[in-house]
Amino acid sequence: MCGIFGCILQDGDAAPVIHQALKRLEYRGYDSVGEVTIYEGKLCLKKDQGKIDEVHAVHNLDALPGRIGIGHTRWATHGAPLMINAHPHVDCTGQIAVVHNGIIENFVELKQELESRGHVFRSKTDTEVIPHLIEETLKGNSSLSLADAVLESVRRLGGSYSIAVVSAKEPDKIVCARNESPLVMGINEKAIYCASDIPAFLPMTNKAVIIEDGELVVLSSQGYEIKKIADSTVVVRKPKLIDWTPEMAVKQGYPHYMLKEIHEQPATLRNTLRLQEHYLDLMATFLDRAREVFVVACGTSYHASLASSYMFSKLAFLATYPVVASEFVEQHGKSVNIDSTILTISQSGETADTLAAVNAARQRAATVLGLTNVIGSTLTRVSRVYIGQQSGPEIGVAATKTFTSQLSVLAGLALRLAKKRGKISQDEMDFLADSLEKIPDTVATIIRTQEDRVKQIAKKYKEAKVFFFLGRGISTAVAYEGRLKLMEIAYIPAIAFPAGESKHGPISLIEPGFPVVFICPNDDTRKTLIGNIMEMKARGASIIAVIEEGDEEIKSLADDYIEVPKGIPDVISPVPFVIPLQLLAYYMAIERGCSPDTPRNLAKSVTVK
Ligand code: BG6
Repeated sequence: MCGIFGCILQDGDAAPVIHQALKRLEYRGYDSVGEVTIYEGKLCLKKDQGKIDEVHAVHNLDALPGRIGIGHTRWATHGAPLMINAHPHVDCTGQIAVVHNGIIENFVELKQELESRGHVFRSKTDTEVIPHLIEETLKGNSSLSLADAVLESVRRLGGSYSIAVVSAKEPDKIVCARNESPLVMGINEKAIYCASDIPAFLPMTNKAVIIEDGELVVLSSQGYEIKKIADSTVVVRKPKLIDWTPEMAVKQGYPHYMLKEIHEQPATLRNTLRLQEHYLDLMATFLDRAREVFVVACGTSYHASLASSYMFSKLAFLATYPVVASEFVEQHGKSVNIDSTILTISQSGETADTLAAVNAARQRAATVLGLTNVIGSTLTRVSRVYIGQQSGPEIGVAATKTFTSQLSVLAGLALRLAKKRGKISQDEMDFLADSLEKIPDTVATIIRTQEDRVKQIAKKYKEAKVFFFLGRGISTAVAYEGRLKLMEIAYIPAIAFPAGESKHGPISLIEPGFPVVFICPNDDTRKTLIGNIMEMKARGASIIAVIEEGDEEIKSLADDYIEVPKGIPDVISPVPFVIPLQLLAYYMAIERGCSPDTPRNLAKSVTVK
C-alpha cells in the first residue's frame, strides 16, 4: 500500500499542495517520499528515503516550481526503502514520470524486454517498467498522445496498479489508470486532483469522482475524461458530494481502523498472493536443506508460526518447532548451531523479543529466514532471505489483515516445499493452489454474509465474564488467535486449548451458560471435535460454533453458529475461520464500550530506521 497524489492548479505552486496531501496519505506508507512538477517544459523532481517530515527537513519539498505535479509516499514491496527506489520513477530521457501504488506481477519479463531494447533501469522496483514502457510505446509511434501511450502501456501490465503519469512534452496533463488499487479524483473551480484516497484532497474539495478498475482518466485544467482501458470507450461520470469528516475519510467511513482492516482483507490477501515466486522458491530451498527448523515469533505472529507447523508437516513432511520468541533462548538457545534454521515471523520486523531470539541464533551461526510486513525493518536486514508479506501498514493495534497474509504466505511456502520434496501429487497441488487463489473471495463472502450474525452474537454474550476457545489440529492456532483478539480488544479473560486437552483440567470451569467457541472445519478432526462439543454441552456450556456452511450436525448442537463457505482444505482453513473471531472481538469491544483502536497497555511495534 502506497499513497499517490497529483494536482493541476489554476494558480499557485503545486508542490506545497502535494506535500500536504502526501502528509494526509502517510498512513498508507512512510518509508520514502517524492514529488515531481512540470515547469517551463521540464520535470523538476525531489525524492528521498525517510518519512515526509524528515525528507522535507533536508530537501524542502515545497520548493519546486510549477502548477502541475504528482507525488508519492511509499510502503516498500519491491526494492528496499532507499532513495533510488523512491517514486516518482522516470524514463531514460527524464521526460516521463510515474507514481504507482500496487504490484506489477510481470515486471521481470517487461524489464528484460525493455533492457534488451536499450532501456537503462536505476531502481529495483517493479514500478520503473512503467515509464520505460510508455517511452518505448512513444518511440514506436511519436504521433501518439501521452494518454494513448499510457493506455497502450497499461494494457501490457499484469497485477495491480493505480498510477499517475506526467510528461514534460504535454505539460498540462496528468494521466491516471487503475486496476485493483484505489484511485479517486477531486475537483473544484480552482483545481483538479487525483489520489489514492479521499483524505488527500478533502480539505480542498468534497466533490469526488471514483475511478473504477480498468479505467484510465486524463486530468487537465479543462476537466477530466474517463475511458475504459480494454476498448477505449468513454465513460461519463459526474462528481459525488462526500460528507465525511477528515477523520472518517482516513478510515474510509469505518468507525475504527480495526474494522477497516478486517474489511480490507480480501484486498490485502490478493496483494499477498502476488508475491514473487522466486522468493518463495528460494526460501523453500533453504527449508528443504535445513536439519531443524524453529519458527519463532510473538503474539499473533506466533499463532501464524503454530499454524505453519501443521502446514509444513502435512504438506511437505517437514517437522518444525513453533517457539514463542521470548522463550527461544532458554528453551533452545544451547542446541542451536550452524545446521539450525530460524524462520522468524514478525509483522513489524522490530519486536524486541523476536530480534533477541534472532540475534542469539545468529551468534550460533544459524540461518535466519524472515517473514515480515516491513521491508527495511531490522528483520529484513538480518535475514539470509526474507519475504515481504505486502499487507500495507496496519494502523489498528490488533493484528488482523497481517495475520491472514502471514498464513497465506506460509501455506504457499509449504506448498512449494511439498512440490520440491515430491510429497504431493500434481492434482493435489493444483487443488490447493486454486483454493489459495480463491481465498480473497472466500473472505469477502464471510464478511458480507456473517457480519450481522456476529454482531447479534456479541450482543447476546456481552456480559460474559470469560470465554473458552477450542479447536483441533491446525484450528488450535485459530482458537489461540480468537482468544488473544477478544482479550486484547474487549478485555474479556479468555482461555484457549487444543480441544483434546480441555478434558484434562479446563473443563472443570464449565458451568451453565459458559460460552465456548469451537472452530469446526470439515477436516479429519471433525468427528472427535463433535465429541468435545458434546462434553461441553452436557455440562451446560453455551456453544458458539464456527462451521462450514451446511454442517447441520454441528448446527443442531450449537446455541449459535457462524458459517464459512464449504470445501476449504484444512491447511488453508485458518484464514477463513479466523475472520468471524476477529469480528467477534471487534463487536464485543463495541458492546462493552471499549475502544478497539487503542487497547490499554498495548502499542504497535514501530520500525526504527
Ligand atoms: C504485540 C502486539 O505487542 O506484538 C501483537 O500487541 C503482535 O498484536 C505482537 O502480534 C508481535 O508483533 P510483530 O510485529 O512481531 O508481529
